Amino acid sequence: MAEDNKYVEEIVRRILIGTGNKGKFKEIERILKGIGIEAILPEEEVKVEEKGNTFLENAYIKAEAYYERFKMPVLADDSGLVVYSLGGFPGVFSSRFWEIDYGGYEEPVPDKDTANIRKLLRLLKGKEDRRARFEAVIVLLLDKDRGVFSRGVCEGYIGECPKGDKGFGYDPVFIPSGMERTMAELDPEEKNRISHRGKALQKIVDFLKNMPKD
Ligand code: IMP
Repeated sequence: MAEDNKYVEEIVRRILIGTGNKGKFKEIERILKGIGIEAILPEEEVKVEEKGNTFLENAYIKAEAYYERFKMPVLADDSGLVVYSLGGFPGVFSSRFWEIDYGGYEEPVPDKDTANIRKLLRLLKGKEDRRARFEAVIVLLLDKDRGVFSRGVCEGYIGECPKGDKGFGYDPVFIPSGMERTMAELDPEEKNRISHRGKALQKIVDFLKNMPKD
């Protein structure tokens, strides 16, 4: 392991990942493993009401709830898809876009991700401006009084139809800028390098590496 990773190991060896989403957990686990930190999947999901208006508020609400329950360093993220021609929707409502009071309702079949994508493609039908960005905010709480947050974005646009079977959520319809493949056609390493969550997490990793030693 590189010399500059030593301090990271000293302060935190294990970080609880405050999520019940296995797709997210795997992405975060892969990146933390690279600097010798073990990502812990909570033995049970802590249900919180994501009542914030921003990704930062929701990420903090989740991190605090997991810290209260498990009393160990916690990393939580809140993320979503921001579509420019839809005034920023689905935004903080990304995971339950199918049911919110904007743009009509979609039956959650065969699953919620598919319903979310169906609604998005319906609302964008015929629209020329298909630009969108994924955005993630990560909050790392070391203990109840100390923590840090970071933000990462990945710009791109929404394709005409779903493609690919990797990733999760809106990946099959999101094409990152400068690419011709959807996020769901990228290998996990490739996605982590350019993704909103990958970038936000890299900033947290850099912070941990450069943290003052006393
Ligand atoms: P959260 O769990 O409240 O952060 O909800 C995030 C939602 O945004 C997910 O359920 C997905 O619908 C969407 N989302 C966030 N990150 C990604 C991603 O990397 N790929 C695809 N969809 C994502």
